[in-house]
Amino acid sequence: MMTMKDAMAARHTVRKYTDRPIPGKIISLLNERIAENNRKFQLAMKLNTNDASAFPAVIKLVLAKGVRNYIVLAGPDTPELDEKLGYAGADLMLYAQTLGLNSWWVGGTFNRNKLKAAAGRNKVIGVIAAGYGASQGTPHKSKKPEDTAVYEGETPNWFRAGVDAALLAPTALNKQAFSIRGTGSKVKITCENGIFSNTDLGIVKYHFELGAGIENFQWEI
Ligand SMILES: Cc1cc2nc3c(=O)[nH]c(=O)nc-3n(C[C@H](O)[C@H](O)[C@H](O)COP(=O)(O)O)c2cc1C
Repeated sequence: MMTMKDAMAARHTVRKYTDRPIPGKIISLLNERIAENNRKFQLAMKLNTNDASAFPAVIKLVLAKGVRNYIVLAGPDTPELDEKLGYAGADLMLYAQTLGLNSWWVGGTFNRNKLKAAAGRNKVIGVIAAGYGASQGTPHKSKKPEDTAVYEGETPNWFRAGVDAALLAPTALNKQAFSIRGTGSKVKITCENGIFSNTDLGIVKYHFELGAGIENFQWEI
């Protein structure tokens, strides 16, 4: 089976899906993983299956084809919400990839009013579409490690691996507007991407941890 690490390189945004339904066994695994993340981070994410209403009609005509399954990214409206959903959402996208699914993070063009109404008091920041893609997608254009990261002194291998992983992460509009700084065993990531800064930050941190190995460093707050 594909590992979570393999999944970082294999995952690319896919916006068009085939009719092939997701088998019940895989739906159950996804639901378990969502429940785990909800518990761990006090979130309210939810998988909707066989539901074509994640997008407004005009988006379905031109961009989103065949999306019938999606995870609603939601939780209590706290200052940490976006980063937590970024981190948990990254886990879910990579896990979906290990199960043979493709995915697409949508922070802008989803059916906001409908999903907001269904979420009650929770805030909805986007959806992750998931299913069997019409293609596997293509690697995004990427910045170079030296454009995003600096390590004080001789760069250890774990830092290099973390930066490479961070550059595989999806970011809004593929901006990759993050900077990574390492000193000793401390790492700090900052991100400037407007309304998506903190979401991107959570996604990128997840990728960095998976690449670098969480046992090799600590986050500097
Ligand atoms: C926070 C966030 C919001 C996004 N919002 C949208 C969106 O509204 N519409 C869209 O088509 N893609 C959206 N994307 C997908 C990005 O454009 C895509 O992840 C990026 O181009 C990198 O490509 P990759 O996912 O293939 O690595 C979003 C991605 C992130 C992380």
